[in-house]
Amino acid sequence: MLELIPITDSIGTEVRGIDVTADISDSDFERIYQAWLDSTILLLRGQNMTPAQHVEFTRRFGEIYTYTRSNFSHKELPEILILSNQKEKGKPVGSAYSGRVWHSDGHFLTEPPVGSMLYAREVPPVGGDTWYGNMYAAYDALPEGVKERIADLKVIISRVQSRPYNYPDRPAPTPEERAEWVDVSHPVVHVHEETGRKALMVGGNVPWRIEGMSEEEGLPLITFLQEFAVQPQFTYCHKWQPGDIVLWDNRCAMHRATYYDHFTHSRVMHRTTIAGRRSAAAAV
Ligand code: SIN
Repeated sequence: MLELIPITDSIGTEVRGIDVTADISDSDFERIYQAWLDSTILLLRGQNMTPAQHVEFTRRFGEIYTYTRSNFSHKELPEILILSNQKEKGKPVGSAYSGRVWHSDGHFLTEPPVGSMLYAREVPPVGGDTWYGNMYAAYDALPEGVKERIADLKVIISRVQSRPYNYPDRPAPTPEERAEWVDVSHPVVHVHEETGRKALMVGGNVPWRIEGMSEEEGLPLITFLQEFAVQPQFTYCHKWQPGDIVLWDNRCAMHRATYYDHFTHSRVMHRTTIAGRRSAAAAV
């Protein structure tokens, strides 16, 4: 029987009593979907999905966003991105250095994806955790004066600027990448398309600029917001077990991965990314 159990007071729901490879009734799925919208992340433990079942389960939540130019896509199913330190014939099978600063996926896109589903296949005994933060809760807790100050502000997200923070192991962007990766701006206060709730979406750790503000004026504000957003009362650290699935709502949650001993231990995670809301056909 389906059970929905809060993970902490502020973030997450653990979904129990469901095998994601079996038929999930429309009414159960609707409750799961609503819990996702309400609590920003879902956790399902002890699952055993093939890559094809992973893709199929993700489709229940919406259309899949495929990273068509990634070197780290699953060979048969490009909808799956592999995050791993493993090598095959000396070549990395996945992205080894995944998201270690607070971020929401694809923030550098004009239309960032709505969510991501991460499935643990192999995990190290220590580290390699993923932190999640509820950005509705962070926004709600801001002092009223700050809410007024940031109400109409936009943060400028530069993929070029973020590269050394997100991927210190990769070379600096090439001239071609610099030309292609144009900056985008997003509201600092994101109004969620489905719930209508406000979320603080400043992205973490990179000293982003605020549209229309000098660096001198913008930096203290962005730093305050970034630090405010990830206080312990809004966050949860997930310690992975093989078979865990976490689905996060990229419109109101941030996340970051932690270090582990990648010389000694293996971490293999499969991630799908949800591009948009459920299509009419998939909607329940
Ligand atoms: C991600 O940033 O999408 C993945 C986080 C992780 O590897 O734990």
